[in-house]
Formats: sequence, C-alpha cells, structure tokens
Amino acid sequence: MSIITIATSKGGAGKTTIARLILGRLSQAGLRVATVDADFNHTLTDWVRTASKHAITVEHELDETRIVPLVESLHAAHDVVVIDTAGAATQATIFAIGCADVVLVPCQTSSADIVEAIKTMNLIKSASLMMKRDVTARVILTGYQPNTNISTHIESEIAKAKLPVMETKIHRLVAFQEMSFTGIVPTSGLAGLQCANFLDEIEALGGIPEAAKMAS
Ligand SMILES: Nc1ncnc2c1ncn2[C@@H]1O[C@H](COP(=O)(O)OP(=O)(O)OP(=O)(O)O)[C@@H](O)[C@H]1O
Ligand SMILES: [Mg+2]
Repeated sequence: MSIITIATSKGGAGKTTIARLILGRLSQAGLRVATVDADFNHTLTDWVRTASKHAITVEHELDETRIVPLVESLHAAHDVVVIDTAGAATQATIFAIGCADVVLVPCQTSSADIVEAIKTMNLIKSASLMMKRDVTARVILTGYQPNTNISTHIESEIAKAKLPVMETKIHRLVAFQEMSFTGIVPTSGLAGLQCANFLDEIEALGGIPEAAKMAS
C-alpha cells in the first residue's frame, strides 16, 4: 500500500479537488482506494458519502494521535490511501506528512498560495530531517490559466524559491468544479488528459505500489 498526502497551509488551494482526482482515477483503474479526511470541514467525507460514484473507503479523523494507526489499519485491504488535510498546518497534517510516500502541495494562482506552498515545503523538509528519511514532495500547480501574466508570475516565483514542481499543470476548468456534485472524475477532454498525466507522474514518484500497478 502507498500513502499520498495532500497538504498546504493555504485554505482553498485545491487539496480536496486533487484528492478527488486521485481517488476517482485510481478507483476507475480497479485499485482499492481509501481516504483519511483530516479536515474539520469534512468536505471530502461528504463527497465520498453523498456525491462520489467511485468505490472509496473514507474515514474522518482529526486526532493527530490516531492518523498513523488509522492509515496502518487500512493497509491490508487497500492499495492506496490518500490523506486530505485542513487548510492550516495542524498537528494532524504533520503526522500525515510523516507517514506519506508522496506529499503533494497544491498551489493556485495567488501570492498567498506561493507563500503557503513555501512554508509547507519547509515543514516537509523539517519532518524529513526529524525522521532521518527523505519525504518525496512536489508542488502541483492547479487552477492554472495558461498564457496569462499571473500564471507566468506564479511559475517564476516557484522557480525562484527552487520548489520541486510537477510537470503536469491542472488547469482552471469547469470539469473540476462540476466533479464536486456530479461525483465523477473526468476521463475525457483536456481535464481527462490532465488527470491521466497527473496520475502517471504520481506513479513515477512511487505513489502507487508495484503490485497495484500491474493489476491496473
Ligand atoms: N483546477 C481547478 N479548476 C477549477 N476550479 C477549481 C480547481 N481546483 C479547485 N477548484 C475550486 O476551488 C475551490 C477550492 O478547492 P478545494 O475545495 O479543492 O480546496 P481546498 O484546498 O481543499 O480547500 P480547504 O482548505 O477549504 O479544504 C472549489 O470551489 C473548487 O471547485
Ligand atoms: Mg479541502
């Protein structure tokens, strides 16, 4: 089983949207997926229980002392666990980072998103040092608007801060917003293509276990 944590201390950066994409696509590919929702707003839990058309196990857990044991308990029956975190660095977020194989840090097109992405990458670095192991982490640009000054600016700020960033950019598309009530993750058009590229990159980073890859 592998663990993918989605974290940034910026609220509304696209964490839950990214979690839906990963869970929905992997579920469509036949993988057994679970999510731990560590956000007090329980947005992802509500989505899985009321909107999602995908087979996803969901657990809502805010207590930082229970995050790692809960993830462990999902180990036997699932290929991938995605941890969605709150829009502020909580103790639960630190444990979610600590147990992850891959951490994804969504960044939309605002200065606040960059400031919080930098802070979150520093938090991950610090957790890596504390645990004496490297935690693979990448910024994922989302809500991206190609050929605009704001997106060019965001990319240059990310480069200036030397943050490792995924090649795939998730554009600002209605298909990603609609997912919140249709419950279906896009498989066609530009949104579908971006999801596929995104998942390929996560796989290359080690976010999907070998055995599950062969089965999918
Ligand atoms: N790529 C995208 N294209 C269009 N809309 C998007 C995209 N990503 C996120 N959004 C929209 O931005 C809003 C915030 O996204 P989301 O809920 O995923 O952020 P979050 O980081 O989980 O927020 P919170 O910190 O409150 O948990 C939502 O309305 C969502 O539909
Ligand atoms: Mg959220």
